[in-house]
Amino acid sequence: MEYDLQAAKKQEELYLIGNYGRLPVLFVRGHGTRLWDDTGKEYVDFVSGLGACVAGHCHAEIIAAVARQVSQLIHVTNLFYTRPQGELAEMLARYSFADKAFFCNSGTEANEAAIKLARKYMREVRGEDRYKVVTALRSFHGRTMGSLAATGQPSKAQPFEPVTPGFVHVPFNDLESLEEAVDEETCAVMLEPIQGEGGVYVADVPYLRGAWEICRRKGILLVLDEVQTGMGRTGALFAYEHYGVAPDIMTLAKGLAGGLPIGALLATSEVASGFKPGDHGSTFGGNPVVCAAALAVLTVLREEQLVDNASRVGKHFRGELERLGRDTGAFAEVRGMGLMLAAELKEPVAREVVLHCLEEGYVVNNIGDNILRFLPPLSISTREVDGLVGALGGILAESPSASG
Ligand SMILES: Cc1ncc(COP(=O)(O)O)c(C=O)c1O
Repeated sequence: MEYDLQAAKKQEELYLIGNYGRLPVLFVRGHGTRLWDDTGKEYVDFVSGLGACVAGHCHAEIIAAVARQVSQLIHVTNLFYTRPQGELAEMLARYSFADKAFFCNSGTEANEAAIKLARKYMREVRGEDRYKVVTALRSFHGRTMGSLAATGQPSKAQPFEPVTPGFVHVPFNDLESLEEAVDEETCAVMLEPIQGEGGVYVADVPYLRGAWEICRRKGILLVLDEVQTGMGRTGALFAYEHYGVAPDIMTLAKGLAGGLPIGALLATSEVASGFKPGDHGSTFGGNPVVCAAALAVLTVLREEQLVDNASRVGKHFRGELERLGRDTGAFAEVRGMGLMLAAELKEPVAREVVLHCLEEGYVVNNIGDNILRFLPPLSISTREVDGLVGALGGILAESPSASG
């Protein structure tokens, strides 16, 4: 029997739990910035697996690294040493502020680890009974109970209450509220340099620097959630580099293994000393195959200068979106940095625009009813950007409800 979109829909209805609202496309192949569906139709991908496929789809170097590792050793657990995990930790230490790494399988797990490490470090290394974490309203840190409690979107947690206690949410880009929220029970401030799932809101430079300064002054930890902003997405390998301050803990996931499931917590040696054998762990975390993939991703980013490309093409993309906004009057705002961009529509037609883009062969994402989000592979070209912006112009001109 042929497996097509109809077959996939039917199977999902029968056998999958309905927690996703899917778009009507069945993708079967990817290469570089392109995807193909079951009918053979080609698309330019401006979502890249929600920011994960930073080096593009099915990059030859990543395939080779994974194939090599899969044929040698797939899995033994963290009861033992394996080479790719140590090598990846060493590379990340070389490229970032951090000295040490812990690996897990997703962004939410990386943030769970960060919350546990911040509490443990404060209590056992510093001897201070601090447990509260201050995070920002509109933030997104994941969907497991701790990360969900950290997430500053009450509607996401409310159906699952009671959530983990010990989290305080304050308005983003508001230093005064942040400072007021920190008390003698606070162990950490946890922020995204750019709020991604919340709608692509960029932290102001004085805000992030101020947050760092508050943490220093009050003797608490700054945790940066770079699950979405990390791995070159913003035009720097890590977004904190734009701000001239380094965190004590950083979490990564999405782009780190180029589309394979991984999460990482990076920390200074001092803070990392909070975890002792048995304090935390993961059966699959730091698995040789995903670590081999991540090492290949770092190589590809460097060899193909994809972080610079993200910066250069991102500037062009942003400029073109702003021009489109002026020409059509459809956008309330264009936001973002590098290749993490959003256009906020004046009218609530984002999903309609996404569906039209699919018809035109462009994969884009919407956040809620008003926000179009763009997270292409970091190898996207200005020509591909111009193609999308041209298509968006046509779509917005034809949709009377979209143009302002
Ligand atoms: C900033 C941030 N943190 C955490 C997460 C959760 O990551 P995951 O879906 O891998 O658990 C996301 C996912 O979108 C994210 O954007």
